[in-house]
Amino acid sequence: MDVPSLIKAPVHPATAAAALTKLWSPRVVAEFDDYYVKIAKVLGSFTWHAHEHEDELFHILTGRLRIEFESGPVDLRAGDVFVVPKGMRHNPVALEECHVMLIEKKSTLHTGDVVTAQTRSIDEQLRGM
Ligand code: NI
Repeated sequence: MDVPSLIKAPVHPATAAAALTKLWSPRVVAEFDDYYVKIAKVLGSFTWHAHEHEDELFHILTGRLRIEFESGPVDLRAGDVFVVPKGMRHNPVALEECHVMLIEKKSTLHTGDVVTAQTRSIDEQLRGM
C-alpha cells in the first residue's frame, strides 16, 4: 500500500508478534499521544509487579493468558481486551504460547516497580523488529 509522506505505514500486530524470537521482550509497533502500542510473545510466568500510576491494557492476539491478582486469577483468551488497573499487583502467566498487544503510557515500565532479569529498557523495546 502506498502511504503519503508524514503518515506511517499500517502495522499488523498479530504478524509482528508471531515474528518475535524472544519471550517477554515487548516491542513498540506504534505510538500515539503519550501512549505506546506494543506486542509481545509470552510463555510461562512473568513476575509479580504493579504500575503505580498507569493502567495497562492487554489485547490477546493468540493463545491464552492468565493474569494473577492477589485476589485471584483472570483468564483471557484470543480476542479479549482487559485492563489491569493502576496500582494492582499482578503477574501474567501463559500456560501456552500467547501473543499479546499492549497499550500503555510511555512512562510505563513493563516490570513495574521491580527490576528482574526479564526487565527490558524502553530503548530495547523501541528497537526494530
Ligand atoms: Ni504489568
